[in-house]
Amino acid sequence: MPRHVHPGVVVRSSGAGSVGVRGRGEEPGRAVDRGSPMTTVPAPSARSAGVFLREFVRHPVHTASCTPSSRALAEVMCAPVPADGDPVVVELGPGTGAFTDLIAERLGGRGHHLAVELNPRLAALLQRRHPGLDVAVAPAAELPALLAERGLAGCDVVVSGLPWAAWPETTPLLTEVLAAALHPDGALTQFGYAWTRRARPARRLRHRLDQVFAEVVSGPAILRNVPPAFVHTARRPRREDVPRR
Ligand SMILES: C[S@@+](CC[C@H](N)C(=O)[O-])C[C@H]1O[C@@H](n2cnc3c(N)ncnc32)[C@H](O)[C@@H]1O
Repeated sequence: MPRHVHPGVVVRSSGAGSVGVRGRGEEPGRAVDRGSPMTTVPAPSARSAGVFLREFVRHPVHTASCTPSSRALAEVMCAPVPADGDPVVVELGPGTGAFTDLIAERLGGRGHHLAVELNPRLAALLQRRHPGLDVAVAPAAELPALLAERGLAGCDVVVSGLPWAAWPETTPLLTEVLAAALHPDGALTQFGYAWTRRARPARRLRHRLDQVFAEVVSGPAILRNVPPAFVHTARRPRREDVPRR
């Protein structure tokens, strides 16, 4: 049964696959959906690629790519997902699930995996591929409310596929929202396309990351992705006030 979080925001939760562990800050006894420890991740299909392309044609600015990310890029994006414990992992803009698959593999049913996707068609596809996943059809800016709704005090990792480079300069990059949602030892990963690395939007993002995180590492080009991409890994969110932009 879908639960309504905010007007226009529907959270689907299958209720299957709870492993009886609680994420940080959850209320005891609160029903939270997680994948089973025995979760097997369905392989991405040609259908996923077709859906992605169709959604790109429908919403080029929001989708911002005509093909899902590669496994090589996913490996770097998902590297901060802890190998033990019960981490809260948030995925923003999961699309057809290029990173979702690897996060689910790494978690193996531990912790809480929340995927926040604006496009309801992509969210529905993702939910079909990962029935135990907590999928929120919502803009990423709603993250604080989505965490609160689940009784989660924050998150350990944010894996972001948000197409910030396509956003107008006046649109907030959400970096301070994400820094505030992360626990002090948490990490954010965000990818960009290598050929845009020196362009103004990419410089704007790097500048904002430097303002709200004490440590930002921008990795080398990952050539085994179409188009080649690179990953920012940001840690140690600054707690002091930073100017909003
Ligand atoms: C470049 S695609 C990345 C998809 C996937 N992570 C990948 O790498 O293959 C961007 C995704 O972000 C979603 N998106 C765009 N704006 C969003 C927003 N404000 N909040 C949540 N999702 C958003 C799009 O619908 C799309 O699925």
